[in-house]
Amino acid sequence: MGLPTETVYGLACDGTRPEAVAGVFAAKARPAFNPLIAHVPGLAAAQAVGRFCARAEALAEAFWPGPLTLVLEAAPDTPVCELARAGLATVAIRVPAHPVALAVLEAFGRPLVAPSANRSGYVSPTTAGHVAADFAGVELERAVPVILDGGPAQAGLESTILRVPDDPAQPLVRLRKGAVTGDALTARGLAWVDASVGGAIAAPGMLLRHYAPAAALRLNVTRPEPGELYLAFGPLPPGAVGTSLSERADVVEAAGRLYASLRTLDAEASARGLSLAVAPIPAQGLGEAINDRLTRAARGRM
Ligand code: TXA
Ligand code: MG
Repeated sequence: MGLPTETVYGLACDGTRPEAVAGVFAAKARPAFNPLIAHVPGLAAAQAVGRFCARAEALAEAFWPGPLTLVLEAAPDTPVCELARAGLATVAIRVPAHPVALAVLEAFGRPLVAPSANRSGYVSPTTAGHVAADFAGVELERAVPVILDGGPAQAGLESTILRVPDDPAQPLVRLRKGAVTGDALTARGLAWVDASVGGAIAAPGMLLRHYAPAAALRLNVTRPEPGELYLAFGPLPPGAVGTSLSERADVVEAAGRLYASLRTLDAEASARGLSLAVAPIPAQGLGEAINDRLTRAARGRM
């Protein structure tokens, strides 16, 4: 089912059933080496899925429910099937902060694995309509028989992913920048290192070109050229055609609108043979994760 969360919509299924998980991989055309996040309604349920060291427990208490995913050693009898974990010894877990997601998880009683409910590599969905559009025709009835409409996703960017090594002497590794900002981690006195692409530890999904519109995309553009639709930060400049991520240049508002704006402009650009240009986004706060997504979206297409 299409499941609303506070970050983006997920394509959720029973994480304990390999045949269901295989259906999600197939519907998304997602490579099988890219593991899924297990969603649970609280810490107690999470403790059945992964092995919590003291540091992981403290992180869960500080940030759950919320947009933080913890990558831990899988519990010896974890209910999350091997296919969902891509055969890894670790498992990614989060407790979403969306009332609809929490109600479904409580009622279901087993972990739901849920990748973002977009076709693999495309822009993530922040509304129920985006999910329906991505799986329209071929797969909608079969692969996504139910979409729960929980309104537009509030954060608009995926969860932050932290690898939490059991050994407290090893640093936390941020595998994906996301809705929990670096500043929010720092404010809790946490130190971390960012995973480097090609480094020893990485989120397999982050190695790919990702979050990408169909149209070509140019970044850090202050003056769009003719033939470009412009995604501004601040007021749309005179003469430019497009829309603004945030008229008042607020990164939180911009994060919330990023994927929906990209989808709208991409549809228009593709229909009219145009390309996309995006304004520079400040690297502060959520701007860090916005720039991460835009860089991946533009990879190989600039
Ligand atoms: O906000 C979110 O996290 C959304 C909502 C639906 O919860 N989900 C989401 O899932 O973004 P997905 O599948 O699009 O991204 C999950 C990321 C992938 O990059 C995957 O490689 C990484 O998590 N991941 C999952 N399990 C992992 C593991 N054991 N070790 C390292 N990375 C892992
Ligand atoms: Mg995704």
